[in-house]
Amino acid sequence: MQNFDYQTPTRLIFGEGVIAKLPEVMSQFGKKVLLTYGAGSIKKIGLYDKVKELLKDYDIYELSDIQPNPKYDPSVLDGVKICKENDIDVILAVGGGSVLDCSKAIATGAKYDGDPWDLISYKAVATESIPIVDIITLAATGSEYDQGGVISRTETNDKIGYMDNLNYPKVSFLDPTYTFTVSKKQTAAGCADAMNHIMEQYFCEDSTLLNDGFMEAGLKSLMINTKKCLENPEDYTARAEMMLACTYGCNGIYSLGSSYTGWPCHGIEHALSAYYDITHGEGLAIITPRWMKHILSDKTVKRFVKYGVNVFGIDANQDKFDIANQAIDATYKFFESIGIPMHLKDVGIDDSRIKEMAHHIAINEGLENAWAPLNEDDLVKILMESL
Ligand code: NZQ
Ligand code: ZN
Repeated sequence: MQNFDYQTPTRLIFGEGVIAKLPEVMSQFGKKVLLTYGAGSIKKIGLYDKVKELLKDYDIYELSDIQPNPKYDPSVLDGVKICKENDIDVILAVGGGSVLDCSKAIATGAKYDGDPWDLISYKAVATESIPIVDIITLAATGSEYDQGGVISRTETNDKIGYMDNLNYPKVSFLDPTYTFTVSKKQTAAGCADAMNHIMEQYFCEDSTLLNDGFMEAGLKSLMINTKKCLENPEDYTARAEMMLACTYGCNGIYSLGSSYTGWPCHGIEHALSAYYDITHGEGLAIITPRWMKHILSDKTVKRFVKYGVNVFGIDANQDKFDIANQAIDATYKFFESIGIPMHLKDVGIDDSRIKEMAHHIAINEGLENAWAPLNEDDLVKILMESL
């Protein structure tokens, strides 16, 4: 087992109606609040009005229209400007992972004198940030319990996942009823994203029985409960378990003591959504089985066998490569069964920029150091297979 040094400082407040604690929670941070949100889903579900009512004694400034795959310009820059001009005490992010990620970049950017992109691109290290509280409305990214934020810069086709301990939210409110209105498309994409977060930690050289058990249970829980959520969007128990499985997925808890993996599918997907602005979870679902096939080898097969037997119940008394291939097919079929388009062409991507994207990934994502190393040619092959 590898050494580690780990702390998650985020307070999770979970369950139906927990928003009643919002005024008490916010009171510890100050009166001037920047409320951040997306295109309007929080207004449709009544959450915007509820927040305004609960925080009627606070000074609320607003940043709206944060897009999926949140953009540096205008959203991050606009948010930083509001914070600096108004001396904001706390950011309240209400929405999906994109709203929260954007808020994380704003929180550190607002306490930095230079260009906030310096922090996102690791040219400078943040020393201070504005505290973040969030009310997450979409089960997917786990941003509510992690130190990552993913920001896109359109003009350079960059989509950077940047990590900083200052990014941990102080408090995350998780009320599964707010996810009842999430569309089938976003529910399925959220499942694929969270499953891939687990797989990015599962497929490695050195894991533990403990971690494997957690992760296998996480994958099974996501598959079973996502299907229930798709059948009945207001199934509280299924939405609740899906939400928690997503929350756990990305904060590193599953891979404490495990060896480095490189998170290759995310490295590849970030280029797809940077170049084509596609839905992150859909891009991951398309890439994952093709990546699996591409890296299957004498070195990697043992992990696919364990995954196939323990997650999909494949008969262990078969040739190891047969089991691995069945596991990869089962992965593909599961994503297909929840309605995810399983080809790049289905999400508007053709072969015209594959070489350019492969080059971009090879330069920026460090995947030559992944558990199963990927060079530019490997990346072209995986992307071509995904068409
Ligand atoms: O903009 P609004 O109107 O709010 O609508 C959103 C958006 O259109 C809608 N939505 C959210 N909650 C809803 C709802 N619709 C109905 N009812 C609700 N309760 O869903 C759409 C997608 O929202 P978005 O926030 O983009 O989705 P998600 O949470 O999947 O976030 C995706 C982003 O997170 C990044 C991705 O790359 C992508 O940019 N990631 C962040 C990670 C992290 N911070 O740790 C890890 C992940 O790997 C991921 O990369
Ligand atoms: Zn992800």
